[in-house]
Amino acid sequence: MLTLSQPDDWHLHLRDGDALSTTVAHTARVFARAVVMPNLKPPVATVEQALAYYDRINAAIPLGNNFQALMTLYLTEQLTPEEVHRAKAQDRIHAIKYYPAGATTNSESGVSELESVYACLETMSEVELPLLIHGEVTDPRIDIFDREKVFIETILEPLTLKFPELKIVLEHITTKDAVDFVKQQSENVAATITPHHLMFNRNDLLAAGVRPHFYCLPILKRNTHQIALIEAATSGNPKFFLGTDSAPHDVKTKENSCGCAGIYSAHAALEFYAEVFEKHGALNKLEGFASFFGADFYRLPRNKARVTLSKRTSTVPANFKLGDGTLIPMRANETIAWHVDEITQ
Ligand code: NCD
Ligand code: ZN
Repeated sequence: MLTLSQPDDWHLHLRDGDALSTTVAHTARVFARAVVMPNLKPPVATVEQALAYYDRINAAIPLGNNFQALMTLYLTEQLTPEEVHRAKAQDRIHAIKYYPAGATTNSESGVSELESVYACLETMSEVELPLLIHGEVTDPRIDIFDREKVFIETILEPLTLKFPELKIVLEHITTKDAVDFVKQQSENVAATITPHHLMFNRNDLLAAGVRPHFYCLPILKRNTHQIALIEAATSGNPKFFLGTDSAPHDVKTKENSCGCAGIYSAHAALEFYAEVFEKHGALNKLEGFASFFGADFYRLPRNKARVTLSKRTSTVPANFKLGDGTLIPMRANETIAWHVDEITQ
């Protein structure tokens, strides 16, 4: 048995509409709070849109559950410093998300020229509103496996030098380069790590046939990078914390000649992390990673409730409903070792 303070998910895609009944219930089963990504169509780019989205999420929370959605704004070139101030004044909005235009699912409205949003970054830095970064360059000449590394060298490092007081989360890191970079930075720079980048590498995606359910962005890397991520997550360094990047897509858009990027892990996310930490002899480091370091970074209180997990096997369902469609979850039809038994307030 393992008992932890209730964890939070610092990077999550809930989608919208009918999908919310599935996605919100899965995350709220275990997590107290989650940072909700704004890459809807159209993007959640204003305070008004974020508050309306918050209400739609709230309406999908199962009765009796006190899950809290932590909203984000999508950084567009139209965002103004005034809107950043309005966002900060809202206790429901906790960060702004930077997608390089074209980097990933629904990133078309993202930023092409970072200079065009400098005024907003300055304000975010002043009012202490974190910038969450999808850290990949979009230049088609750059190899997809190098896009994170090149982003760090050409965009992120200059950004941290220009805005040293800006709080930054480099989201869903996938490389040793990202681990090393984050470690070297001030306490204003942290990173989230997903369960799939800890459990898998590019062989799982490509070696025994192309497996579209392992396709996500940033793409799975070689196993030396996977090892660096495991070391970072299990090290107890507070710069690295839990963010699932659980990103549901309908099976038809995944199993497709041009499949969408995104892996769905919300149905068993904490169990997946527990498996990784156990395998690497670091179960005693799970609570910091899952339940403390993210809250501390965002200057939110740590959760008081506790979750208990036990070593009890179960089988992941073959699929879940996603609105009118179907989604195939991570580790579908496979056995998982841990089970969340209860949450005590
Ligand atoms: C995410 C999605 O589907 O919204 N996909 C993914 O592969 N991670 C977007 C993102 O976080 O890049
Ligand atoms: Zn994401």
